[in-house]
Amino acid sequence: MIKRPLIIDCDPGIDDAECIMMVHGSGKFDIRGITAVHGNVPLSHTSQNALFLSKLYGIDCPVYLGAKEAIIQRLSRAEYVHGNNGLIGFDTTLPEGAQFAQGHAWDFIWEEAVKQNGELEILAIGPLTNLAIAVMKHPELPKLVKNLVIMGGAAGSGNFGVYSEYNIAQDPHACEIVLQAGFPKFTMVDLNACRSVWLNGEEIEKLRNLPENNRFAALAKRMLKHEDDNKSNWQDDAFVDEYHYTCDPVAAAVLIDETIGQYVDKYVFCDCVGEMTTGQTVIDWLGFAPFKNVKIPVALDRDKFAEIYFECVKSYEKEDC
Ligand code: RIB
Ligand code: CA
Repeated sequence: MIKRPLIIDCDPGIDDAECIMMVHGSGKFDIRGITAVHGNVPLSHTSQNALFLSKLYGIDCPVYLGAKEAIIQRLSRAEYVHGNNGLIGFDTTLPEGAQFAQGHAWDFIWEEAVKQNGELEILAIGPLTNLAIAVMKHPELPKLVKNLVIMGGAAGSGNFGVYSEYNIAQDPHACEIVLQAGFPKFTMVDLNACRSVWLNGEEIEKLRNLPENNRFAALAKRMLKHEDDNKSNWQDDAFVDEYHYTCDPVAAAVLIDETIGQYVDKYVFCDCVGEMTTGQTVIDWLGFAPFKNVKIPVALDRDKFAEIYFECVKSYEKEDC
């Protein structure tokens, strides 16, 4: 099987850690690089976490530093969800010799898109600052990206603002630049999609009791304990608390196997001026706009999500993964 060339742009973030685990564990991708961006926690932590996770999972790829701040406005971070170091206090000490690749994330994205000659796919699961800078510096980029999947946006209520989802709210201008850049295949896995799938109690226990030789086991246990200890503090009460809801892994599942759901093509723009609505992804549900720019998942299969999730987890039990 020819592995699909992919760049993961991320802000780890414990759900980013789950997502990267799934993408690599699926065995479907030639991960050409991981690019870190500000987001859940400052870039100093998201980048260290990205490099740490690449070593933990055994992903042989360069890790690049990206943007420290949003293009125009900065709002806040999400230590309340992900802990001060972004991985809920998990020890992210880097192995001897681990280091970042030289150069900026946005230049690497362009260079790799040219190298892959139209076959590159991008999974973006943090604020879209790196991607927006890449598009501004290299306007030809979208034509060279075969498939862009993001975790971001809110077709209904938000999780950061009333109507805005965290990734988009941290850099709404970047989102608008990316939305209007002309990516030919652009799937926006929004909060509604993320809230439509979960791991149930039985699956949570399966995750909690992974064998110790599974490279994801320790982080999974820490993640579930953190959730148990903090569920009442989290803002997004749209999640039912006996299940494990997560965001970035839903984008991973859509990337891994898009038959997991059904999608609608819509025109979307990002509000960058509203006092109460900046960061809202405004979806033209009724089709007034003359063209569509994104696919939005409207029906995802929960059982298939759990099946994909655990197929990927299982791949870490082999010693040579
Ligand atoms: O709103 C959820 C998104 O914001 C996820 O990507 C999470 O990691 C945070 O970045
Ligand atoms: Ca993220």
